[in-house]
Amino acid sequence: MPGTGDNRKQAEIDYPAAIGEAGRAWLRSKPFANTPRESARLLIDFGYVLQLLDLRPGMSLCELGCGPGWMTRFAARHGVQAEGYDISPDMIAIARELAAEEGLDVHFEAADMEELDLGRRFDAGLLYDALHHSPRADLVLATAHRALKPGGRLLLAEPNWKHRFQGRDAAGEYGVTEIGYTPRRLKRLLREAGFTDVRRFHNTRKRLYSNSARDLAQHLAEPLVYRSLGPSAPLSLTRAATRPAGGAPAREFRAGRARPRGVAARPRPCRCGRSLRTRPTRTRRSS
Ligand SMILES: C[S@@+](CC[C@H](N)C(=O)[O-])C[C@H]1O[C@@H](n2cnc3c(N)ncnc32)[C@H](O)[C@@H]1O
Repeated sequence: MPGTGDNRKQAEIDYPAAIGEAGRAWLRSKPFANTPRESARLLIDFGYVLQLLDLRPGMSLCELGCGPGWMTRFAARHGVQAEGYDISPDMIAIARELAAEEGLDVHFEAADMEELDLGRRFDAGLLYDALHHSPRADLVLATAHRALKPGGRLLLAEPNWKHRFQGRDAAGEYGVTEIGYTPRRLKRLLREAGFTDVRRFHNTRKRLYSNSARDLAQHLAEPLVYRSLGPSAPLSLTRAATRPAGGAPAREFRAGRARPRGVAARPRPCRCGRSLRTRPTRTRRSS
């Protein structure tokens, strides 16, 4: 935990006390009871976390910078052995209280994600909207790397690079750290921390669409718009992995190349369950 001389960390610790009753009510109700669009956005993000970390019951997950722990608690409801860490004891108090109310077996602890050593015990790690609250991303990613088993996966969900400007109000008012990363910088930081198979995912936070021409046009255009805006997408999702046991480097998969060179295609199952490639191939007879 930080000494009293560390103002920026103290500001993170004091944040829940500084935001008033309405702010604390939001911490407790998160992701619910906001505007339908905002609550939906957060719920959809949890769906992305499940999918991208491939979380299944029985797996272990640590969330760093968990705040009131809503994602950690959701993961526990999914059957994951989940632990959440945050520098602010007030955040952790809320997280523990809500977990107890919900009857969940989740471990929450106040800790500094720049220094924490959790021992290589987790299948998956999550930093949701939290990395940009530390100016020492290198230390935070080192913590995440130390926490994961070989072959474990980390997911970063971060606002875009403009957050360094858009976050100025919060930084000015509360003294908290607000940084905005470009996807390229995030990837570099992950590689420098020893992660491999670093991949960025584009999301549209899918809107529902009706049959109206306008809705259909928007539905078709949206992925292209998001893809072309790239670094300005509102939420940047970047996943990386630790090297698998045995020292074999995980293969990097590049966009546009479905599999590493020299690796044979796996048989593609057709819908009825049979492999499309199990049909005997005709060989030309030599006469
Ligand atoms: C924007 S909040 C996000 C919280 C949570 N992930 C969520 O979605 O509600 C950022 C969190 O990072 C925490 N944080 C900031 N610096 C930290 C540090 N050095 N170690 C651990 N947590 C930290 C803050 O206390 C805060 O709860």
